[in-house]
Amino acid sequence: MPAPQTPTWDCDPHTRAKHELLQRYLEAWFPILLQGPRARQSVTYAEGFAGPGIYKGGEPGSPVIALGVFLRRKQLLSGKRMNVILVEGDSTRLQRLKSEIGKSAAQYGGVPESMNIEYHNGRCGDVLIPALNGAGATTSPIFAFLDSWGGPDIPLDIARVIAKVPSSEVLVTFGTRFLMQFGNIEAHQEKGDVAFGGTSWRKVRNLPSHQKKGYLVTAYRESLNAAGFPYVISFEMLDEGGHDLHLVYGTSSHKGLEKMKEAMWKVDPIRGVSYRDPRDPDQLQFELKFDPDTRPLRRAILEELSKGERTLAQLREFALLETVYRPPHVTPVVRYLLEQGIAERFPSGGQLSGDKIIRLVPEEAPSMDTLF
Ligand SMILES: C[S@@+](CC[C@H](N)C(=O)[O-])C[C@H]1O[C@@H](n2cnc3c(N)ncnc32)[C@H](O)[C@@H]1O
Repeated sequence: MPAPQTPTWDCDPHTRAKHELLQRYLEAWFPILLQGPRARQSVTYAEGFAGPGIYKGGEPGSPVIALGVFLRRKQLLSGKRMNVILVEGDSTRLQRLKSEIGKSAAQYGGVPESMNIEYHNGRCGDVLIPALNGAGATTSPIFAFLDSWGGPDIPLDIARVIAKVPSSEVLVTFGTRFLMQFGNIEAHQEKGDVAFGGTSWRKVRNLPSHQKKGYLVTAYRESLNAAGFPYVISFEMLDEGGHDLHLVYGTSSHKGLEKMKEAMWKVDPIRGVSYRDPRDPDQLQFELKFDPDTRPLRRAILEELSKGERTLAQLREFALLETVYRPPHVTPVVRYLLEQGIAERFPSGGQLSGDKIIRLVPEEAPSMDTLF
């Protein structure tokens, strides 16, 4: 969306879905890091584009939502330390954010002593890493939400620094429109280079229009990989008007990846936001629901099997890492392929468990009807 000039603005369907996703994910992240035998002594939640903490209609902004997650379970912070580092470029919005955070914390009896909330006014690219260093936050896990308007405003160096801190993660709002539109202008190209950590993204200029978006998202995912996050997933959210927004999540944690996918699939489909798998060549758009359209997954699995046999566990892993689907979506798809005689399993008897080998039936060239 065009960047609003007023201190607050309307909360659109994307934003509501994004907030629901963030809340659901943090509800998993916070206890995973702070309880149990492997609990950390200290964690950090950071935002690089924190906003005013409230929307025009009174809806809470992302830092207020995050704080609510932490304060509802503040007993987990007992004897621990949590940093909340909030960076915002607009001083009026930052003032409003302080006031909204204050009001929200008051509902939970105030900010506990174990929590250090810091507000920093400035550009995320200049301010966030010094702020993390200053708070002593770079020795324990960080979750950084980098929610810009979608332009190339996030230097890849931020991700590089965060990726070096064990068990840290980033969730980035990534837009393609700006670079597709202005990628030929020298000054903007340089911003793109800083965001992607190199110039290879510039190849987008020579691609046909329909390939540009997918190319940029893939290039950005690869940049986050190169920055040090072994697992990067992206998904495209579409609202009723067909407007798109990409969320890109980078982590080194398998469990984090599973939790993010779970959060994503639970975001209320009634909100009129659907998802698209950026790697699906047909760009099928689908609602997240109990019985989702798994045709893109079916095709992805067939493609994977065309490279050679896989165990069911490997296919589940493949779905987790390479598609927008979750591991539990895989078994019904594999069952379908077995029933259709498109794939076969070894051994043929017993439960369809993770160790079963699945491979394509060589003589079966699946017809387009059975695939889609
Ligand atoms: C998409 S809004 C963030 C909304 C907020 N995360 C939420 O969900 O409630 C982007 C915010 O980043 C701020 N901003 C824009 N460019 C910035 C920059 N380079 N560094 C820090 N903040 C910036 C804007 O003033 C705006 O408040």
